[in-house]
Amino acid sequence: MPSPCIGVFDSGFGGLTVLKALLELIPGADYLYFGDTARLPYGSKSAETVAKYAVEASNFLQRQGAHMLVIACNTATALAFDEIEAATRIPVVGVVEPGAQAAAAASENESVVVIATEATVNSHAYQKALEAHGMDAREMACPLLVPLVEEGWIDHPVTEQVARIYLEKAFTDGFQAADTLLLGCTHYPLLEAVLRRAAPEHVTLVDSAASTARVVAQQMQTHPYFAAGHPTHPARLKFYATDSAEKFKRLGAHFLGQPIEQVEHVDLKE
Ligand code: DGL
Repeated sequence: MPSPCIGVFDSGFGGLTVLKALLELIPGADYLYFGDTARLPYGSKSAETVAKYAVEASNFLQRQGAHMLVIACNTATALAFDEIEAATRIPVVGVVEPGAQAAAAASENESVVVIATEATVNSHAYQKALEAHGMDAREMACPLLVPLVEEGWIDHPVTEQVARIYLEKAFTDGFQAADTLLLGCTHYPLLEAVLRRAAPEHVTLVDSAASTARVVAQQMQTHPYFAAGHPTHPARLKFYATDSAEKFKRLGAHFLGQPIEQVEHVDLKE
């Protein structure tokens, strides 16, 4: 029996933070990672456009043999989860519900601030998911953070200043005492140190990468391959990008925390 193959989809490199968390929890699977770098950012696009791109990417991953699809992109999950699920024959896991669950578990006073892209915030997907868990939620769009991370300004005074401006605004008007900050974007785990310093001291940071990986790991426990106790091999990884393979290797290594050897360029129009 072949080992399970997990397809991970993101608008670009950011979803590699989710792949990193998956590799830690499920090292015995095969992974296909698709980064739609030519059409990034999704965070400023309409729901229709994001749904169209995301369905194309998920079809591609199915054609390559994925048995399960992880939508690592918060924007794609927030705007298009239902469309992707309806168009896909394999199980689909998104990042919004696992992230909301983790934030609800972390918050003691049931008050959570979520930071995300403009499109994610406008969809209110996180607010709805958090309210369903009994949380009070404040969403704050932080559109400048993705370009700063893409520029490599990870631990940079400008990024810290920008983060402070957003977070000062978020933790006001009834949310001064919110005790949890949910990082609702693939890029934000890289800014953990900066966000830690910029957020009020009493706040716990939660990101959806680790919690999404836990949900996938739970589902994998019942997969016949793992349930039958097959000897596992080191994870086999394959990367696809719609823009420059070289750039993907260079920037992607930051997100994945290890070198990326081979990237195949894909043109979905072909
Ligand atoms: N992957 C997106 C997200 O998690 C951030 C980058 C983009 O806007 O495409 O929301």
